[in-house]
Amino acid sequence: MRKNKIFIACDTSNLREIKKIIKQIQTNKIKVIPKFGLQFFYSKNGRKFLESFKKDFWLDLKINDIPQTALSALDSLKDLKRCKYITVHANGGLKMLKVIKKKAKLINRDLKVLVVTILTSLNNKSLKEIGYTKSVEQLVLKQAGLIKKSGCDGIVCSAQEAKIVKKKYKKLFIVTPGIRLPGDNTNDQLRVMTPNDAFKNKVSGIVMGRSLIKGNIKKNIQRLIDHLNQ
Ligand code: C5P
Repeated sequence: MRKNKIFIACDTSNLREIKKIIKQIQTNKIKVIPKFGLQFFYSKNGRKFLESFKKDFWLDLKINDIPQTALSALDSLKDLKRCKYITVHANGGLKMLKVIKKKAKLINRDLKVLVVTILTSLNNKSLKEIGYTKSVEQLVLKQAGLIKKSGCDGIVCSAQEAKIVKKKYKKLFIVTPGIRLPGDNTNDQLRVMTPNDAFKNKVSGIVMGRSLIKGNIKKNIQRLIDHLNQ
């Protein structure tokens, strides 16, 4: 069994469903960390629930704004004591990344700032449509350099780029969404990989949402454990 981190995307706005997910993903065979994103945080009960949540979690808000606004947004989250990971977009630029990291340190020394590079729902064709002239790999590598410079704690990219990022930035904490169990629907994700292939590419953690939380959660967790044991 691999020792790397498994983050579970608790993507629903329904509090009852959130509680069910939290309960059913618990197993003594693997350690999982819940991740809450925009959908839950923006919901009526979302923030309130997280204020008193008793486990460590990742708040995936993908902050992307001018440095002062980004910094103030992070400051507004400081009461969320068990929030141990926060995300910002690399597109916000070096200055934003630096001020966010500095602020995060002041809020809680254990708060890790993970930087989102090119979303796993995009591919080279999508980048061209937006107006980028570099490939996914080139941009992720470039942004990995920026992250290193900023002092932020980790990079969020797809497992397909993990190898090249690891080669150049050996110590960078690499977290990869776009993870599916073999045969599962990829939905809107374009750069996908299985958990075992991702770990082979030396990622530090994987993010899994729909492969685990849709359908029978306990069965899905067992499928993941069986897959990791292969
Ligand atoms: O359901 P699925 O496994 O595709 O969910 C992936 C999760 O990871 C979602 O919560 C999504 O917001 C998040 N995420 C992502 N791509 C990124 C960063 C975060 O899919 N680059």
